[in-house]
Amino acid sequence: MTQTPTDRRHLPMAGLTHGNRNPVTCHLRCGDACSFTPPNTTDNDYFRDVATRALSRRRTLGLAGAGAVALGVAATTASPAAARPGRAIAGKPGGKYPHTKPGKPGKPGRSRLLFTPVAPQPADTDSVGVPAGYRWDTIVRWGDPILPGAPGFDASDQTQESAEGQFGYNCDYLDIIETNSKGTRALLVANHEYTNEEIMFPPGTDPETVVRVALASHGMSVVELRRARRGDAWSYIPGAPKNRRITAETPFTFDGPVRGSALLRTAEDPRGVTVRGTLNNCAGGTTPWGTVLSGEENFNQYFLAAGTDVRESRYGLGPTQDSRGWRNVDERFDATSEGYRNEPHRFGWIVEVDPTDPSSTPVKHTAMGRFKHEGANVIVNDDGHVVAYMGDDERFDYVYRFVSRKKLRKGNSPGARRHNLGLLSEGDLSVAKFIGDGLEDGVSDGIGRWLPLTRAGRSMVAGMSLEEVLVFTRLAADKAGATKMDRPEDVEPNLVNGHIYVACTNNTDRGKAGKEGPTEPNPRNANKDGHVVEMIPHKGDHTLERFRWNLLLICGDPGTAGTYFGGYEGPVSPISCPDNVAFDSVGNLWVSTDGQPSSTSRCDALFKVPVAGPQRGRVQQFLSVPAGAETCGPVVRDTDGEGSVFVSVQHPGDGGTWESPTSFFPDYVTGSAGRGEFKGPRPSVIQVRRA
Ligand code: FEO
Ligand code: CA
Ligand code: CA
Repeated sequence: MTQTPTDRRHLPMAGLTHGNRNPVTCHLRCGDACSFTPPNTTDNDYFRDVATRALSRRRTLGLAGAGAVALGVAATTASPAAARPGRAIAGKPGGKYPHTKPGKPGKPGRSRLLFTPVAPQPADTDSVGVPAGYRWDTIVRWGDPILPGAPGFDASDQTQESAEGQFGYNCDYLDIIETNSKGTRALLVANHEYTNEEIMFPPGTDPETVVRVALASHGMSVVELRRARRGDAWSYIPGAPKNRRITAETPFTFDGPVRGSALLRTAEDPRGVTVRGTLNNCAGGTTPWGTVLSGEENFNQYFLAAGTDVRESRYGLGPTQDSRGWRNVDERFDATSEGYRNEPHRFGWIVEVDPTDPSSTPVKHTAMGRFKHEGANVIVNDDGHVVAYMGDDERFDYVYRFVSRKKLRKGNSPGARRHNLGLLSEGDLSVAKFIGDGLEDGVSDGIGRWLPLTRAGRSMVAGMSLEEVLVFTRLAADKAGATKMDRPEDVEPNLVNGHIYVACTNNTDRGKAGKEGPTEPNPRNANKDGHVVEMIPHKGDHTLERFRWNLLLICGDPGTAGTYFGGYEGPVSPISCPDNVAFDSVGNLWVSTDGQPSSTSRCDALFKVPVAGPQRGRVQQFLSVPAGAETCGPVVRDTDGEGSVFVSVQHPGDGGTWESPTSFFPDYVTGSAGRGEFKGPRPSVIQVRRA
């Protein structure tokens, strides 16, 4: 059922939409970002000759893609993964690979997660589609009590206090960090990106209660899990000692060069060193030292701002934002008020949380720059420096890299731990320039350079101080001449081959009047399906200035002009709008999607894609999420007897309301829904494993 703006009761609605996403999703998650002019109006001089040649190159790609055909229901049995590792990168255990044997990273093997690809399911299908022989179980849902004493879910009687003790709304980034060698205890860490008040609250709910519950339902959760044996389904433990909620009210500390800067000071924090809360936490990454990084993404939508200064408008801050009316409850969300001009400067950072210590104060790392952070993913370079890769998810924005000044200290001693917790506080920030090498070689590829923004604690951008570079990083990257990308979401190193994969989700503005046209790394006008870039560090060294790159996937329906699947000529699944990426133990890429083009009318999904060997580029669909939902935070575990995939099912049933839900995931309750009579969808973390 399609809602119109006048149907809304809890929020002001623009009623705008983009692609096949429900207008509610566009409004609540990104503040209708795609409905506004992209904030990057600079004219970064991309190599226009290359861009021109890229147009003719698309014909070549079309031919390459024409050999691939869609996978139907009766697709052939998947062959084992054929990943051949490139240069193995030593010394980076942990992260999403707790089972990777130290000293043997990149050992080729056969993924245990074999499956027959599933067919795409129609967009209104309200179920989770998994391969034959697999089943899915819910681990934790919005509203499940996690802190001691938290009340059970009762959607008709929500308070700030109850929400602060329960699993938050719209889970996004996800990791399952095992905490014992038997694989029977773990910490689940999830982001809660945004809230959908139209589904969450019955009509007539007091507006202040709506805001206060929404503040408490943003942020992150840490939840202890247990199970009898490795490979079984996980259960969460209500009230466990390490369970934690981080919300839009939780105190954070700033560290790094901008801590204490005048640019961070407000009436509430005249020293510029602490901030209440984290907002719009999208993707993230788990570090080798066991902490979780989380990206503050579309923070602009929570603020009222004048928008007259480029330092605001370049971030989408302006008078037409303020989509939730939070300033009516808390003045700090009114950036036009004298005391809170700088409040938006206190969001848009990478935050680091130690899930093993519920009393720790989470940190916002100013050395890593401020933009609409999708997330951050870390790899340890051969020399021990820690390198984080990050995307700025906006049309025509950039890919960034952070290299720590200090090196990782091995071991888990208190001293090593203290040291490693400071690794992201100091280092060099740079932004990517992708240079196409022309079309004569028949592939979309080339070389690239990391353009320095900060180095050794100094600004590398003329006319901007170090603090300005880090707070107004988009402006610094504009000046440096970075390459405008098609909404870079996850940017994640593959620990098996050491390459970095960039999910460019889409950009339907490319080629529009007055905007940049196709370039070799972003080769399509009106790019509705997105693509995946593969970056290869020079000499396998993540700290050097140079890299090579190529497009692994140019997404869309196989057989349509312009698509490309790594050169694979056999059947592949259709794929659009790549968003989050993960890797299995042999280095296969797993890609989740967000928002299928309206022409396709299918649910979002998760795909496996080999990146090496004869099956490089063979896209195989593993699961579908229910109507209205997005697939987020995939985690793939395929070693030591485990064969599980975990995903956050975010915003199921967006577009429905409390009274008229369009999804009933995950409980599919009929008749009485019990307490509160809530029958609608509950964003949840699920585990998919062999039946
Ligand atoms: Fe929150 Fe860029 O997805
Ligand atoms: Ca080329
Ligand atoms: Ca995302």
